[in-house]
Amino acid sequence: MALISTKEMLAKALNSDYAVGAFNVNNMEIIQGIVEAARIEQAPLILQVSAGARKYARPVYLRKLVEAAVEETGLDIAMHLDHGEDFAICKQCIDDGFTSVMIDGSKHPFEENIAMTKEVVAYAHDHGVTVEAELGRLAGIEDNVNVDARSASFTDPDEAVEFVERTGVDSLAIAIGTSHGAYKFKGEPYLDFERLKVIHGLLPETPLVLHGASSVLKEFVDRCNEYGGKIPGAQGVPEDMIHEAVKYGICKVNVDTDLRLAMTAEIRRYLIEHPEDFDPRKYMGPGRDAITRMVQHKIRDMLNASGQAK
Ligand code: G3H
Ligand code: 13P
Ligand code: ZN
Repeated sequence: MALISTKEMLAKALNSDYAVGAFNVNNMEIIQGIVEAARIEQAPLILQVSAGARKYARPVYLRKLVEAAVEETGLDIAMHLDHGEDFAICKQCIDDGFTSVMIDGSKHPFEENIAMTKEVVAYAHDHGVTVEAELGRLAGIEDNVNVDARSASFTDPDEAVEFVERTGVDSLAIAIGTSHGAYKFKGEPYLDFERLKVIHGLLPETPLVLHGASSVLKEFVDRCNEYGGKIPGAQGVPEDMIHEAVKYGICKVNVDTDLRLAMTAEIRRYLIEHPEDFDPRKYMGPGRDAITRMVQHKIRDMLNASGQAK
């Protein structure tokens, strides 16, 4: 049992046509819910921490909770920084014991993104830590007016090759049409699989990462809305599209929104059905259980993405 880097787990996924779930964590119940699912499924697991999560829960709490999860379950888990915006936060997480970091220079010009990624790679590799970087932009549905404008922000395959060669990064997050949150598509879901195939063909040894990969499962959106929520028209990445992406090099699938929806749906239901209860354990418990069930479902789906049980 240990905190491990993503090196071996992503290499194995790349060679076996499945993906590892990377789940965002913000508090104890979310961590316990996810880890219980990975324990039941005996699956590889990445727990990731955003800057927002660090601000909310404070770094030391999250780190100790993840360490507790490793100690209690005996699982190998990677503790990953999600969307690190500069060298300073990556260095801080590496010094704190993270086993993997993301340096997200995607909003910067190409050369600047390369420079900041190289600096993080040098420090991280010196400490046995893996690095994910991002090239291309995850445009939201409101960010651009039309499909052409949106695809202009997608990852350029030739730039991806140059980026990986010059930075020595371990994995690459690409933009092919997903976005963060519960509103990913206005009409029919669309991902640029042709672009993904070309990138994977040019970089067959590089694990690719899909951000904004929540499926926004109908069950939880409906339950939220049924019990007083207002999430009309939410739409995620259909699971068959995740399977397709896994065929072309996607080895790490990032999920946060699905966790938020599962927990919120169950807490909403519990509080409406039990108005007399005010002990937080009474509703946080079912929220945590909903996360376990949802993550078990996602893990099974990702491990069997190629249609063959692993
Ligand atoms: O990348 C987005 C993740 O869902 C993290 O979100 O920055 O609100 O913690 P957050
Ligand atoms: P979702 O909003 O689709 O869950 O994406 C999460 C993510 O990409 C975290 O980095
Ligand atoms: Zn992301």
